Formats: sequence, C-alpha cells, structure tokens
Amino acid sequence: MFNKELYNYFFHLETPFYYYDMNLFHDSLNKLKSAADSYNYHIHYAIKANANTRILETIKGYGFGFDCVSGNEVKKAIETGINPDKIVFSGVGKSDAEINYAIDHSIFGFNCESLEEIEVINDWGFKKQKVVPISLRLNPNIDAVTHKYLTTGLPENKFGIPVHFLDEVITQTKTLSNIKLIGLHFHIGSQIREMNSYIELCERVNSIQDNLFKKHGIILEHVNLGGGLGINYENPESELIPDYAGFFETVYNHLKLKKNQKVHFELGRSVVGQMGSLISRVLYIKKGLNKEFMILDAGMTDLIRPALYGAQHKIQNISKPGVKIKNYKYDVVGPVCESSDSFDDNVMFPITKRGDLIAIRSSGAYGEAMVSQYTLRDKPKAIYSDELINKAG
Ligand code: LLP
Repeated sequence: MFNKELYNYFFHLETPFYYYDMNLFHDSLNKLKSAADSYNYHIHYAIKANANTRILETIKGYGFGFDCVSGNEVKKAIETGINPDKIVFSGVGKSDAEINYAIDHSIFGFNCESLEEIEVINDWGFKKQKVVPISLRLNPNIDAVTHKYLTTGLPENKFGIPVHFLDEVITQTKTLSNIKLIGLHFHIGSQIREMNSYIELCERVNSIQDNLFKKHGIILEHVNLGGGLGINYENPESELIPDYAGFFETVYNHLKLKKNQKVHFELGRSVVGQMGSLISRVLYIKKGLNKEFMILDAGMTDLIRPALYGAQHKIQNISKPGVKIKNYKYDVVGPVCESSDSFDDNVMFPITKRGDLIAIRSSGAYGEAMVSQYTLRDKPKAIYSDELINKAG
C-alpha cells in the first residue's frame, strides 16, 4: 500500500495525519453493495466509526443509509442530504432534545433500549401529533467473543432490553398510540471475527420471532442485526476488503424470516477500517535501560484504541519501502505524558531513525472519530488519496 511515490508525497506534509485510500474505499463499498444487493439486505453505515464529511458523502453515493447514536450524528447525516427515511437512531440515553430533533426530521426509526425511552418518545409523538416508528433493541445474551469493552449483548451490558422483559414491553407498547412498532434490533458487539456468534444470534432471533407470533400474533416488518463485523488488524494486507459476501451468506443460511420481512445491518468498522492509516514521524529513538523507544509525533490523542482496549495495529516504517529485513526491536510510543500512551511493545523494524515516516494501519474506523485534544494537542488532519494525487499533478 505504501510505495516510494506515496512516501514522496507524504514527505512534505505536516504529521501526524490520517491518510484515506479512496481507491480501496471504493473497491470495498462496491463489494459491500453487490453482496448486500444480492440478498436484498439494507445497510446503514454506523457514522460513529468515522464521521468525516467526504467519507459520509462517498457512502451515501452508494445508496446506503446511516446509523446514528447521537443527535449530532443525526444532524450530520441529514446535512449530507441523505433521505431521512434511511436514518436509524440507536443509543441507551437519548435526550429529549435529540428525540425531538429526530422526530421533527421523520427518520426511518428509533432503536429503543428501554420501556421508559419508548414512553418518552410516545409523549413527544403525542405533543407533535405524530406516530413515531420504533424498533425494540433486545439484549439477546450472546457472547460476541471480543474485547470486554466491545461486547454489548450480555446481561452485564447496559444495552438493549433483556429478552426476558419482551412480553411485558410488547403489552405496554400496545397501549401507546403515538408509536408504531416496526422492527426488532440487535447489536451484540464490535470486532467480531467469530461467525458462530452471528449464527447464535440468528438462532436466537428465530426463536424470539416465533414466540412473538405465537404469544402476540405479531410479525414485524424489519429485523436489524446491527454491526460488529471485524477486520484483520494483524495482517491487513491479507484481507483489505472484509468478506461481506461470506458474512451475509451466514446470516442468510441461519436467519428464518417471516413473510415480507426486511433485514438491516449497521456496519461501521468493516466499511472504513482498512482504508485508513495514521501517518506519523519519528521524533526520537531513545535508549532505555534494556529497550529502545521509538517516540512518534502521534499519540493516544490521535489514536486511542491501543491505550483504551490494548488494541494492536500493524505498524510500518514507510521510509524504507523496499527493506524486508527487520532486525531492530522498539517500543512504539507517543509524546503524551501518560504511560498508557503506547502503540505497541517489542515491534520488529528495519533500523529506524529520527524523521522516518511510520504508518499505523487499519485506523480508518474509530481512529479520527475518537481524537481528543488532551494536553491541548492539535487534531490530526485528514488526507485523501485522490486529493493528494490531484494536488501533486
Ligand atoms: N450499531 C450500534 C448500535 C453500535 O453501537 C455500533 C458500534 C455499531 C452499530 C457499529 O459496529 P461496528 O460494525 O463498527 O463494529 N470504539 C470501539 C468500537 C465501539 C463500537 C461501538 N458500537 C473500537 O475502537 O474498537
């Protein structure tokens, strides 16, 4: 991905910055579209993974919808010019202002996480003389086999309505006249690499749907399985585009739909993860007592995933594109005054010196979106591959 030509473009740029490979992005979106279309599945890109205007506009161009988890995300989605009937709104703690905004813009639907929230939405619907479409986000008690901060479908997680309370919630919602129940929603976690978790989810959804029909005579229009599809952080090159087709095939083979039901997904990471890299410069190579530290100008404020989840991203010295031999070991750290400001330990590189450019791969998702200005650091800029080539040409 990083050749001499690209290095020459990068060399004159101020670091750190996010680099987005737009060719890879389009390739990935094309694959996603044809895989989803062949099953007639509906995709709502989870804006939280990366909310850059250009990225959202590109995704919108493929006809996908958006999944939002805050009022400002709903606002941003609407600002891209997307039809609001492609917007879903999730989140355990939607404020009254956020609910109002979304009702006023007639979004496709709210994914509701508690009976209290449904009642508040119903009250606002009543005041505005509107019937508001909602789905129930259920917590299905399924282990997504991922980092504990990235799992959302277990009883200890704050997300979703426990399936145990479903009958009670259905009975209550029947008494509310300013909401319309249109679907069931699930999201069991993120960075899920184990298809068995999705198989388990489909089987759980099947039995929930059967019970819903038997007990209440209800068949809902939509089933939304959320996001979560993981990417290959260890060896991105081997899987630059996630296996969307295989993922949808698994769902297709295990999810039993009722008549005319539509299936929705809210993919985030898998859509934007591999096309982004954080590009940084080596400030110093510092000798420790028994190790060497590679001190970068990028830190945890630019990419917090390693500090927050112990996430490991592939790190490359791109000043030496041809050099294959990696016989120097460094701890790769940032400049922020926190010991957790570290990207990885004991990473093998070719010999590296001050001024070399370093790429932290697979950073398109939850990279720039989670930037902070702790210690008053600047925010990294975004550079898009097509703009770079145009500028240079
Ligand atoms: N839908 C809902 C309701 C969600 O909460 C999420 C992500 C998604 C969809 C998209 O999931 P994805 O396809 O991206 O896995 N900051 C963490 C990831 C947090 C994910 C939160 N929810 C990270 O850097 O790994």
